[in-house]
Amino acid sequence: MDSYCHYRRFLALHPVIMDIIMITNTSEGQMSKAHEYAQQHRDEFRQQLHQLLRIPSVSTSPQHAGDVRRAAEWLKTEMLRIGFESAEVIHTPGHPIVYGEWLGAGETAPTILIYGHYDVQPAEMIDGWTHDPFDPIERDGKIYARGSTDDKGQTFVHLKAIESLLQTEGTLPVNIKLLIEGEEEVSSLNLGAFVSANQDRLKADVCVISDTAILAVDQPSIVYALRGLTYMEIHVHGPQTDLHSGVFGGTVHNPAQALAEIITALHQPDGSVSVPGFYDDVLTLDEEERAELKKTDWALDDWAKATGLDHPWGEAQYTLRERVGARPTLEVNGMVSGFYGEGAKTVLPAKALAKISCRLVANQDPQRIYELVRDYVAQITPPTVRSEVRLLHTGDAAFVDRHTPVMQAAIQAYTQGWGKPPVFMREGGSIPIVANFQRELGLPVILMGFGLNTDGAHGPDEHFTIEMFHKGIDTVIHFFKLMGRK
Ligand code: BES
Ligand code: MN
Ligand code: MN
Repeated sequence: MDSYCHYRRFLALHPVIMDIIMITNTSEGQMSKAHEYAQQHRDEFRQQLHQLLRIPSVSTSPQHAGDVRRAAEWLKTEMLRIGFESAEVIHTPGHPIVYGEWLGAGETAPTILIYGHYDVQPAEMIDGWTHDPFDPIERDGKIYARGSTDDKGQTFVHLKAIESLLQTEGTLPVNIKLLIEGEEEVSSLNLGAFVSANQDRLKADVCVISDTAILAVDQPSIVYALRGLTYMEIHVHGPQTDLHSGVFGGTVHNPAQALAEIITALHQPDGSVSVPGFYDDVLTLDEEERAELKKTDWALDDWAKATGLDHPWGEAQYTLRERVGARPTLEVNGMVSGFYGEGAKTVLPAKALAKISCRLVANQDPQRIYELVRDYVAQITPPTVRSEVRLLHTGDAAFVDRHTPVMQAAIQAYTQGWGKPPVFMREGGSIPIVANFQRELGLPVILMGFGLNTDGAHGPDEHFTIEMFHKGIDTVIHFFKLMGRK
């Protein structure tokens, strides 16, 4: 209540904001020259996106490092072509960052920092793709290719919105700083240092990111919570070498079994995580927010269709949306031990490994979660084996204030783009750099997603719905215009 009053007072003092609210209440989105341009160049825009999608910029594979660089160069060239004042490929100890500016709106106009990523997850035919993941095709109103929705297609929306405005009006209503990284899918290893070292250069009024999903093709939504991440490995060491399971079986605690026992002990039967202190910093949802989240709940049917399963699992006292959006988890991402070739081998393995990751919610400290898991695993490891928990990487959760003036502009932009106001939604995925933008640049962040959770991101046959691509461009044009109103 208190913060709401404060917000109202804030609005009263800011004419620009009042103006935005007025538009929210009165006008429908109008087709501008820029919108017409975007409409006339629909097919061309998608052909250009196909070019970018053809570059296999897989950040996790060293053999694709050249392709990653090629994608960065392609984007830089495209940015200069559409009228950016500057664009450069900035090298890092890992994959390059693409950064460009258009600051022609002048100092009195707001500046928007747009962030996206051009790196993609691996994709091979053997994973179940029905066509080459790096040879985009359009089928049933969708563009199929790795990176089509995550995140080349969604980032490209911004480039095409900017092009449409520059081509028709010769100017933009806002200043633009565009930052596209090549390491998001490997947890933004070098971007944090770049942001810290370039705080002045990245100064802006708002950060906009299109790398999330909306609720449905006909129901826009704005994500205001993303989860963080603590990624670990549990190593269990048993005998000094693999042993004959007949000679030693029954006398040696099998490391694969010991690991399974440890993993089992990490959850309670009710689906909650057993690690002491794990939930200490989790904020509880108030009734108002739970009611709001109900609007975005995951229908059991949709969940069943997306997973191929009949029965959900997890903390029964929370809805499916709350479980992915507002509750932390501990997942086994993979396990390796012993013999897994064809046929049979009677072996007692020397070691076992599990990849474990925790998705975290706002206010949880990823480093502390690592320490808690590490200490608990040490405590429950029996004396018959030796265990070790290694930290691979962490990422902070993000929580976005829904009551900022820029959020009002985003709400209005979606309303104009879709003819329907957006609802607020929490998401389970992670974009680790969001917290850095908030903390180090002091920026309000808008997660202006245009994907769908059914797009198959990270899986086979990833796709981006063509209608979402074009509505996204329209919406971003509206957003720039709303932000630039004075
Ligand atoms: N675009 C996703 C993040 C996302 C996924 C947001 C689903 C909302 C819903 C992003 O590219 C991604 O996959 N992030 C990784 C981060 C990790 C590698 C640190 C993730 O969430 O696993
Ligand atoms: Mn992404
Ligand atoms: Mn991703």
